[in-house]
Amino acid sequence: MDLNEAREKIKAVDEEMASLFEKRMEIVRDVAAFKRENGLPVEDPAQEARVIEGRSALIKDPELKPLYVRFLQDTMDVSKTWQRLLSRDGDGVNTLRMDLGGHSCDILVERGCLKRAGELLSLDRKVIIVTDDGVPPEYAATVAAACGEPYTVTVPQGEGSKSLAVYEKILEAMLEAGFDRSGCVCAVGGGVVGDLAGFAAATYMRGVDFYSIPTTLLSQVDSSIGGKTAVDLRGVKNAVGTFWQPEMVLIDPDTLTTLDQREIACGMAEAVKTALIGDEELFRLFEEGKASGDLLPVIKACLAVKKATVEADERDTGVRKTLNFGHTIGHALESVTELHHGECVALGMIPMCAQEVRERLLPVLEGLGLPTEVRADPDEVFRALMYDKKIRDGLITAVFVERPGSCVLRAVRPEELRAGIDLVVKR
Ligand SMILES: NC(=O)c1ccc[n+]([C@@H]2O[C@H](COP(=O)([O-])OP(=O)(O)OC[C@H]3O[C@@H](n4cnc5c(N)ncnc54)[C@H](O)[C@@H]3O)[C@@H](O)[C@H]2O)c1
Repeated sequence: MDLNEAREKIKAVDEEMASLFEKRMEIVRDVAAFKRENGLPVEDPAQEARVIEGRSALIKDPELKPLYVRFLQDTMDVSKTWQRLLSRDGDGVNTLRMDLGGHSCDILVERGCLKRAGELLSLDRKVIIVTDDGVPPEYAATVAAACGEPYTVTVPQGEGSKSLAVYEKILEAMLEAGFDRSGCVCAVGGGVVGDLAGFAAATYMRGVDFYSIPTTLLSQVDSSIGGKTAVDLRGVKNAVGTFWQPEMVLIDPDTLTTLDQREIACGMAEAVKTALIGDEELFRLFEEGKASGDLLPVIKACLAVKKATVEADERDTGVRKTLNFGHTIGHALESVTELHHGECVALGMIPMCAQEVRERLLPVLEGLGLPTEVRADPDEVFRALMYDKKIRDGLITAVFVERPGSCVLRAVRPEELRAGIDLVVKR
């Protein structure tokens, strides 16, 4: 057998399948519209069972049959994701499941769900609630009231709390309160609290249960799911951390009513990032100025993209790196300027887009009140970029967007990003 010849044959089959895939998704578009108009849920397990039973009978080879069932199941999962994306908030589905085998978790997106923490989470035990002094204290108090034995640790707000010293304080509080592995950690706050508390949960006595209740837009659209936890070390972002999936994530958009406009804009930056790498329709909503106001559909759209990406690559060795779009230069900016994470991501995305996309992105960022230029020393930003822990063999894997909704990963020499820094960093 000639391997090249076989590969050519597979390519021809893949080409046929790609066009059949598009054809199938066009029909799914009609299914989504019908379900929306008739108030039917996306999930229809009985129909799925019928499809599997009927279609698997088409496969003659008994060894292939179970694999075909898997293929069908995956195809139906992709179709359901497509239906949800098309239906946005209209599907009534508020629970997403992050499917990661043994450490899968549910993500509930629902107004007012914070008040239902006691009913939704398993809190009748020792619970360490980690929050910060910028988060309205009533959020942590609401959770504490639902716990069997609550202990609240309030850390100073800001990135500075993502440190080994603050992390140690949380562990000490747990030790002093006599936590063993049956206790749990619950984060109530933004990405800083989530990353910090998640890391404490991941490492205390080799790991305890973790619940996440994100209260910033940035953490609701992005950081609260996916299981990345970390603290910074000597100015290097997320230098120490691990993967630790929460048992459950409760996303209550009502908590955003107390968030200031600057933080809302920061969350929007992360949402624009998600749109650019994986959801063209969402990007169009941003362009049309329709993404502000009711944030629930934006949150759900972003979570759908992130969920699919994490499920495909939990450990960040491949496709998950696309979520770092805007973060390569963004992280460098974060370490040398006073700007917030989301603002740095906004700036960091600009040089990584094709010219045509950039021209569409700039008015979107301006409309959201996000910066498109910053005063700093470009040389210092470049030096900070050279510290990036993701540089391997002199190359850094960066994410580029050539058209909204899709992106590519490319390994480049850091010097190749120098001109991009000059585009957004002005002396
Ligand atoms: N783990 C991940 O996958 C991931 C992804 C993206 C970002 N991050 C991390 O997230 C962090 C940034 O998160 P962030 O933008 O949420 O910042 P943050 O956690 O610092 O929160 C921003 C500010 O909002 C305040 N706040 C929080 N909730 C509030 C509320 N409901 N009302 C009023 N004020 C409120 C906080 O006190 C803080 O001052 C960075 O450290 C970043 O590295 C992690």
